[in-house]
Amino acid sequence: PDSAHQAHFDAAIAADRRIEPRDWMPEGYRKTLVRQVSQHAHSEIIGMQPEGDWIASAPSLRRKAILLAKVQDEAGHGLYLYAAAETLGVDRADLTQRLVDGRQKYSSIFNYPSLTFADVGVIGWLVDGAAICNQVPLCRSSFGPYARAMVRICKEESFHQRQGYELLMRMMEGTEGQRAMVQDAVDRWWWPSLMMFGPPDDESPNTARSMAWGIKRNTNDELRQKFVDMTVPQADKLGVTLPDPELVWNDERGHYDFGDPDWNEFKQVVSGAGPCNAERIARRRAAHEKGAWVREAAAAHARKHNTEEAA
Ligand code: ACO
Repeated sequence: PDSAHQAHFDAAIAADRRIEPRDWMPEGYRKTLVRQVSQHAHSEIIGMQPEGDWIASAPSLRRKAILLAKVQDEAGHGLYLYAAAETLGVDRADLTQRLVDGRQKYSSIFNYPSLTFADVGVIGWLVDGAAICNQVPLCRSSFGPYARAMVRICKEESFHQRQGYELLMRMMEGTEGQRAMVQDAVDRWWWPSLMMFGPPDDESPNTARSMAWGIKRNTNDELRQKFVDMTVPQADKLGVTLPDPELVWNDERGHYDFGDPDWNEFKQVVSGAGPCNAERIARRRAAHEKGAWVREAAAAHARKHNTEEAA
């Protein structure tokens, strides 16, 4: 009976044991995970676009090789995450369809344009830095397949963050024009990076429930603070200014105080009206349609193989 199952599940969560796909789980827990893991997978896949645009025009072979490896890693992350979502009884093809139909979300951050090569560095430093802050605690998420996928993803994200920071260090040692490019990219990506962590806690409908289930381990505001505290000294070392006049060390709190992102802009971007939403989805849809013959051929091959084996 469900009550015995529920008690077993509650005890597992209370003892901080992992929930595995074959274990009984409440429907709300399953639904929340499908929502978060599939949004996360979609973000990795859509996230290939802003940087992928620069592969063909990277300024050197070394930068091209690094960027290519990085963008391929993002594809891999998407695939592990779709696989983790499938253990919850959903189908990857259906999730992709929901994404291209605009029925499922992906991270707001990937709806901003990457205007110069400095954006590649800043995406690595700030966007992947924020992703690490958010994802390291998810390695302890209560759902086994999600937590295990996060371990590998976080290792690769650390490489992404370092390559971004190293690229920016180099540019800052360059010409006045290069330094101005870096500062301009920082000015454009700082606030959207803070928005990646989601709405403030008192406006986040899912946080309390997800924390009680051990799906999330920290609130959105906790992680945003951690990210700011981690990033300010890195900005100083780099020699850039973060575009927030309210950013100041607070001795009493032992943290930096900082200003509020423009939450109206966040709502707009999440609802589909950001600078690049239409372009990102159109491109994803086109790639999906172009790949239809590959999926059909693979399915035909599998059918043929199965018939031969049965004969
Ligand atoms: N972009 C788009 N949508 C967002 C964002 C964001 N930055 N932040 C929150 N939302 C959405 C939520 O998905 C939720 O929508 P839904 O209920 O319709 O699904 C709504 O806004 C309310 O937010 P919360 O209640 O705070 O939602 P949640 O508890 O899921 O927290 C968070 C949001 C922090 C993003 C969480 O889902 C999470 O940690 N996800 C895993 C990390 C991830 O997806 N990273 C992707 C970007 S990093 C990368 O790919 C490099």
